[in-house]
Formats: sequence, structure tokens, C-alpha cells
Amino acid sequence: MALSIRRLRDDFGAEISGVDLTRPIDDAVFAAIRDAFDEYSVLVFPDQKFDDESQIAFSRRFGPLETTISTNSGGGTHIADISNVDPKTNEIIPVDGWLSKYNSGNEMWHTDSSFKPVPALASLLSGREVPPVGAETEFASMRIAYDDLSAAEQDRLEGLVAVHDFSYSRGLVDPKLMDEKQSAAVPPVRQAVVRTNPANGRKAFYSGSHAREIVGWPVEEGRALLKDLVARAVKPERVYTHKWRQFDLVIWDNRCILHRGRPWDKSRHRRVMHRTTVAGDVPTVPDQ
Ligand code: SIN
Repeated sequence: MALSIRRLRDDFGAEISGVDLTRPIDDAVFAAIRDAFDEYSVLVFPDQKFDDESQIAFSRRFGPLETTISTNSGGGTHIADISNVDPKTNEIIPVDGWLSKYNSGNEMWHTDSSFKPVPALASLLSGREVPPVGAETEFASMRIAYDDLSAAEQDRLEGLVAVHDFSYSRGLVDPKLMDEKQSAAVPPVRQAVVRTNPANGRKAFYSGSHAREIVGWPVEEGRALLKDLVARAVKPERVYTHKWRQFDLVIWDNRCILHRGRPWDKSRHRRVMHRTTVAGDVPTVPDQ
């Protein structure tokens, strides 16, 4: 199989064709994909007709998978179902119901699982059914934005530690969204504000909707810095907007990529998206 790699933008993102990921691939092909992941941060693979089993099998090539957190809609599986369709009834879920609200938290800029003690390495999102309009996923690179900081700004971030808290970010959608038991299952964690990719030494800052404050700083001051970092990364000219085609697979590097889902007419159009999430290997701060 000959992989063909086409850049999506000058600074990050690539589309890769010439491979069927639903079938076993050899080590050399996977090594090229893994290298592309470190280099381009967002990879789009068109026309990958995954079911959950083949998606899990391919995702495991990157490493052990996370299990989903426990919510009203379930939890504890390797597939995060972020669809607006109930798999039991095959009907669109109520737009104003708990699950719709919960899923709308993904419409804030974030990096997956930064609220876990060991945050995720990669996410693989498979578009099984996609609406004809809207529902894009947007991506922005905290690595490119880090490179654009002045040396003084980069020095200021070095060694800082942020608190990431899932209940805080979902509380921004609705303060009553998470009950006590759900919040207790995802206690706040600490994460480095600057991360380095060990494969290539490239640094990125690390923020997003779950980032609540900076350890040792007044809450509002730390929050303002974390929000400013996001704002710098997501300037419109820096964003890659992925318009979904059925059976696209998109993979992103959660160590350096922010993403968010965009709204669509949720009462009218079905969107069936299944995500696998590859676990990270070590905490970002030694004493986490
Ligand atoms: C996600 O946040 O993982 C999914 C984004 C989307 O639904 O487009």
C-alpha cells in the first residue's frame, strides 16, 4: 500500500489516503502513520468504513485505550458515542434533554481527557452519519501558537501547573448538569502548562475548557492567562475546519491540539459519531 499525504494547511493537518484502516495494516504502514501524527497533529482519512470492533482494533495500534467516564448515558466502554441518536431506539434524542446538554460541552475548545490524571494521547473520531450542513469539527494547534509567543512569554509559562476540572467545564454549560456523584468520580487534576512531544522536542502550551486555574495564582488571574492562551491558538486564521463526509476518520494529538464541535440542527439531522481515545502514558507533572 502506498500512503499519500496531502497537507491540509501550511502549519498543521494532513489528509492521508491509500490505506484501508478497517483491515490489519503492517508495521511499516503504521509507523508512517504514527510519524505523520507527531508531525501534522491532525490526520484525516477519508472513506474508512469502520464498525466499533475495527475502530477499536486500529486505535489500539497507538496504545491502550481509555474507557469512557460514567454518565447518565452509560460509561466504561472504549467507544465514546457522541451522537444525537439513541442507539437503543435509533431515534434522535431530545434537543433539550440532559444528554444533548452534556454533549454540547464538546462545543467549547478543549483537549480530550485533560481532566484525567494521565491525559489522552490521541482521539480517533469516526463519522458514521453526518448532517448535510453544520456539525463541523474545528481544530487549532497549541504548538503553532506556542511557537508564536515571544521568548519572554514562553519563559513565563515554563514550570506553571494548571488545575483541570471536568465539573468546572460542564458547569459552564449548566451549573446543575453534574450531580455530586458524577463530580466526585472526576476530581480535579493538575497538568503542566507547557508540554513537550518526546518524539521531536516540539513544545506546546496546554489549556482548554477544562483548565480552571493556575496552581499558586489568584484564581481569576490564572483563568485569564489560560483563556488568553486558548484565544491565541484559535484565532480564525489558525483554525482548520473539518467538514465531515460519511466515513471520514479524523485523528488528533490531544497533547497539542484544541478542538470543538460546531452546532447543527439537532432536532432535524442525525449525527452518529464514535470516538476512541488512546490513553497517555505518564502524568504531565511528577506529583500528579
Ligand atoms: C469531541 O469533542 O471529541 C467531538 C467533537 C465533535 O463532536 O465534533
